[in-house]
Amino acid sequence: MQERLLEKFQELFGAQGEIRLYFAPGRVNMIGEHTDYNGGHVFPCALTIGTYGVVRKRTDDKLRFYSMNFEHLGIIESGLADLKPDPTADWTNYPKGVIWAFGEKGMKITEGMDLLLFGNIPNGSGLSSSASVEVLTGYILKDLYGCDVTNQDIALIGQYSENQFNGVNCGIMDQFAIAMGKKGHAIFLDTATLEYSYAPIELKDAKIVISCSNKKRGLGDSKYNERRAECEKALEELQQFVGIRSLGDLNEEEFEKYKSAIKDEDRVKRARHAVYENQRTIHAVEALKNNDVEKFGMLMNESHISLRDDYEVTGIELDTLAEEAWKVDGVIGSRMTGAGFGGCSVSIVKDDAVNRFIEQVGKAYEEKIGYAADFYVVEIGDGPVRLS
Ligand code: GLA
Repeated sequence: MQERLLEKFQELFGAQGEIRLYFAPGRVNMIGEHTDYNGGHVFPCALTIGTYGVVRKRTDDKLRFYSMNFEHLGIIESGLADLKPDPTADWTNYPKGVIWAFGEKGMKITEGMDLLLFGNIPNGSGLSSSASVEVLTGYILKDLYGCDVTNQDIALIGQYSENQFNGVNCGIMDQFAIAMGKKGHAIFLDTATLEYSYAPIELKDAKIVISCSNKKRGLGDSKYNERRAECEKALEELQQFVGIRSLGDLNEEEFEKYKSAIKDEDRVKRARHAVYENQRTIHAVEALKNNDVEKFGMLMNESHISLRDDYEVTGIELDTLAEEAWKVDGVIGSRMTGAGFGGCSVSIVKDDAVNRFIEQVGKAYEEKIGYAADFYVVEIGDGPVRLS
C-alpha cells in the first residue's frame, strides 16, 4: 500500500526532491464520553488504522492537497497567505487549520507543501478521522519543517485549530489520544490537568470490535456545541452554591446534593451524565487494573444508557447497535463511542463470539434500520510516525 501512495504522489506532483511518508492513527474511546470539555476523565486509545500522508516541502508558498478518499475533488490549491477560517470548506480545512494554528502560536510556516492523504478510517464514523489529519499535519510540521513542539503540543494546537478554524468546540480527547497513542495501551487522561497514565489493555480471550452505523455525522452540524453550552450553563448555576471549577470536580453524592441549583430539567440530565460518566471512567480504569474486565464491560453498558437517556446523543442507530450487542452471548460490554448522533459503537467481545456477534447484530441492525452496519476488529496502535 505504501508503494501505491508514493506512486500516486509522483504521478500527481512529480518525482523530484525529497518525498516523505507519515502515518497518524484514528482513535476509539473506551469510556468517558462528553467528559473532556467538562473537566472529567477519558479513556481512549489510538488504533492501527488511520491516515497516511505523503509530503514534499516546496520552496514557494503554495499548498497543494490531494485526498485519495475524495478523488472527485482533484488537487486543491491555495497559498500560505490565504489561510483563513471557513467552516463551510472541504477536508483541506483540517491541514490548513493546523498550519494556520502553528502561525498563531508563533511558528509561521513560510514554505508550502504538496500533500497527498489516504485514510483507512471510515469518514464521519466517530473514530476521529479529522483529528487524525490534524495530528498528522502537526507531526509533519514538527518533523519536516523542524517546528519545536512535543506531541502533546501538537494535540493542543490541533484542538485549537478545530475550535478556531473549523468552528467545532471539541475537547482535547481526540487529538491527545492520537498524538500520545501507545500500542496495547489506553490513555487515562484527566482533562482538567492533562495528567495522564497508560493502562495496558490485556483482553486475553476477547477483542475490541467497532460497529459502524453508517449514519454519517459532522460535529459542526450536530448538537455537539449545544450540549457543551448546556453543560456550561449548568456549571454556572451550580457555582452559585458550590466552589467548583468544572462538573468533573463533583462526585455523585455532591451532585445529588446541589443539583436543585440547576433550573432546567434537561440541563440537570446533561450535568448528571457529565458527573456520573466521569466517576464511571475512574471506576472502570480501577476495574481494569484489578483484571475485572466484566465490571469494565458493565460500566461501558451504563455509559451507553446515560448517553441515551440523560445526554440524548445516541439515536436509533447507535441504540440498536448497543442493545443488540447486549443480547449476544459473549459480549462483555458495548456502548456508543465518540460524539454520538451516528458514527460507531465499541464492544468487547469474547474471541469465540466475534463471528456470532457480527452476524447477529448485523442482521438485526439491517432489519430495523434498513441498511447495513460495518464491523471492524481493531488493534490498539502507536501515535504518529514517519514511515519513510
Ligand atoms: C468528539 C470530540 C471530543 C469529545 C467526544 C465526546 O469526539 O471531538 O473532544 O468531546 O466527541 O466524548
